[in-house]
Amino acid sequence: MKGVDQNSENYFHVDLELLKPKAYAIYPFQIFVYHPIAKNYNVFLHGNSPLTKEKLEFLKFITQKGGEVAISRKQKRTFLHSCRVKEEDIPSLKEVTEHEFITRQRERAKKREQKESKEKFHFKDELEKAIKSDNWMPLIEEIRDLALTFPYTISHTVSLASTLAEKLLTKDSPTNRVVALSAHLAQGCGMKDPLALGDLICAAFLAHLGHTQMQMLFSQKAYLELSSPQRRDYSKHPGLSQHMIRKSGLIISERCNKILYQHHERFDGSGYPEYKQGQFIEPLALVLGASAHILEYSSGKITGSPVAMSVVIKNMKEKTLSPGLEIEFGDTIYESLIYLLDSPKKENENTANAA
Ligand SMILES: [Fe+2]
Repeated sequence: MKGVDQNSENYFHVDLELLKPKAYAIYPFQIFVYHPIAKNYNVFLHGNSPLTKEKLEFLKFITQKGGEVAISRKQKRTFLHSCRVKEEDIPSLKEVTEHEFITRQRERAKKREQKESKEKFHFKDELEKAIKSDNWMPLIEEIRDLALTFPYTISHTVSLASTLAEKLLTKDSPTNRVVALSAHLAQGCGMKDPLALGDLICAAFLAHLGHTQMQMLFSQKAYLELSSPQRRDYSKHPGLSQHMIRKSGLIISERCNKILYQHHERFDGSGYPEYKQGQFIEPLALVLGASAHILEYSSGKITGSPVAMSVVIKNMKEKTLSPGLEIEFGDTIYESLIYLLDSPKKENENTANAA
């Protein structure tokens, strides 16, 4: 293939019949063949060389097997003129217009790049401000902005994440806090690619869909105030969410499905619904689980009394035994979370003390 241009944009593909092929025909243009599995172009016949009987048979054989006849765009006019065909009759010569979603996403990505070069987003500073002011909009908007730059063509779950973020991440709400915190924490743990973040964002939005099929009591009462049978019922919500998604026909990736189903699994096997342990749990499920747990604990959803988020983080960091507080997210994720959630001031103080 050395020396043969492999850029598909420089060729157009034609039906073999357009060449009106017959033995010993001579064409004033070069004929290439495209191999659809190897995805490469090879010279089949040089211009002004006779198409021998053997070559004609071989060309027919190639096209029957799925190979395609290709002509260099540089010889387009020569081809059209000598074969007496019109440009509009060749599908591969029609201009491919970019979908408006793709154009919009590219423009957003460019804008974000420009914005980032001027001012960088500091998660720890912004989190501290959000906790102090009880306003999480800047953290939520940052994830909305980021999700709007996700490429539309890499997976349907990523496209869904972009759409959900655009339509829903517009206000400060408990679900949006979970979506934003988990996406920020995942990035802080090094999980930054749009495929991972798209799966996580969709899972964060959909994980509690199952609540809609449960008694209202579960949304009103604190978790620790539920009786054992009620807790057992409540533990069915990840399965119910998964069931509703399946029934609705909504297509999500396998990993997204895993994240939402496993968001209550804990590294030591103390979670539910399947009591999975360590490496058998999807890491992004632990990130979602930790984010949702911190926010729920702080809001009073676990114990019945709200607890300042700084206290929740402190207790998690010091592994202080507090009723209902979970810390079993695995060493790697746990340490990253503590580093990311710990206030920047304390970090500065520590540096100052060390100096
Ligand atoms: Fe949950």
